[in-house]
Amino acid sequence: MIVVGIAGATGYTGIELVQLLHRHPQTQLGWITSASSAGKRLCDVHAVPWDYPLIALDEAYARAGEVDVVFLCLPHGHSIEAARRFAEAGRCVIDLSADFRLDHADDYRRWYGLEHTAPDLLPHFVYGLCEVNRARLRGARLIAVPGCYPTTVNLGLYPLAKAGWLGDRVIVDSKSGVSGAGRTAKLPYLFVESHENLTPYNVGYRHRHIAEMELVLNPVLPPGHSCQFTFSPHLLPVNRGILSTIYVRVPAGVTEPQVRQRYTEHYAGEPFIHLLQAGQQASLRHTVYSNRVAISITPELPDRPDCRDLILVVTEDNLIKGASGQAVQCMNIALGLDETAGLL
Ligand SMILES: NC(=O)c1ccc[n+]([C@@H]2O[C@H](COP(=O)([O-])OP(=O)(O)OC[C@H]3O[C@@H](n4cnc5c(N)ncnc54)[C@H](OP(=O)(O)O)[C@@H]3O)[C@@H](O)[C@H]2O)c1
Repeated sequence: MIVVGIAGATGYTGIELVQLLHRHPQTQLGWITSASSAGKRLCDVHAVPWDYPLIALDEAYARAGEVDVVFLCLPHGHSIEAARRFAEAGRCVIDLSADFRLDHADDYRRWYGLEHTAPDLLPHFVYGLCEVNRARLRGARLIAVPGCYPTTVNLGLYPLAKAGWLGDRVIVDSKSGVSGAGRTAKLPYLFVESHENLTPYNVGYRHRHIAEMELVLNPVLPPGHSCQFTFSPHLLPVNRGILSTIYVRVPAGVTEPQVRQRYTEHYAGEPFIHLLQAGQQASLRHTVYSNRVAISITPELPDRPDCRDLILVVTEDNLIKGASGQAVQCMNIALGLDETAGLL
């Protein structure tokens, strides 16, 4: 059995991870941490049937040797020190925060407004977008799990970018359920503020997750090309789920059936990619409570095979494929387990 520690098990991604790992045939929980509820039990904090004791992060450092894999479900900024401590203790570290997703400390400062205190570790982390980086994930000991929004955008656009068909301008309109903001109480996420409302935030070229879109997609564009992202996220009053609507213009001569064929071939055999048939639209219900990503492709103009404007809709569960499920998928690949273990 693989023994697992979870730092930040009481947050939304942490509790999701506890539940996923409970179903996993090859893992057992070692310890789990909380900042404010150390000394209590998990069932004191969440409506779950497990009375695992919650310990403080400092105690987890002292007990690092009891586990094989550590998942960090901490707010960004707080994973840096934790990753260093567990990496020095020789543990496999899978970080769900943004602290090790970007390649350079300068980019981290620019997008997160923080000084990175472990820049030496950045090159050792593998960006855990499983369908793209599977080969690099095999045997990896340090893994940065991608952000929730970028997982939809990057998986939605990767086959297009790989084919050289992604133009220099992409418009992404995304909506996320409220759990995307974590469990800490903040005014915009209170029921009365968010319910029966739909609120855009950080629209344009402002949201931190744009950095991950550029990181994944720009390197596979033809030499000298880069893509400009307009990214408009919205707070959607549902508990979970992300829906990204992506507007692209493909090169002249490229048709929607050709694009669809590319996606079919690119994602053939992928257990968690659901490419919808022509005429169908991906919705939150295609993916919530699963590790799947659903992708639909629609030409803007009906009955015009020469139409170059396509609308892709990509959905996922932000807490599963957008966080904890993808983290388990990363662990499965890294440790050479069945990639779908605990996730179907
Ligand atoms: N929510 C999502 O959809 C999502 C998706 C992808 C990635 N992520 C990323 O995953 C990470 C966790 O997100 P989340 O939504 O699960 O957050 P969350 O609900 O706010 O939970 C944060 C967890 O970290 C603990 N914690 C907070 N401050 C701490 C500190 N200073 N030292 C040690 N532990 C501390 C909390 O403990 P107590 O609350 O018990 O005190 C809690 O267990 C974040 O970096 C987030 O950006 C989230």
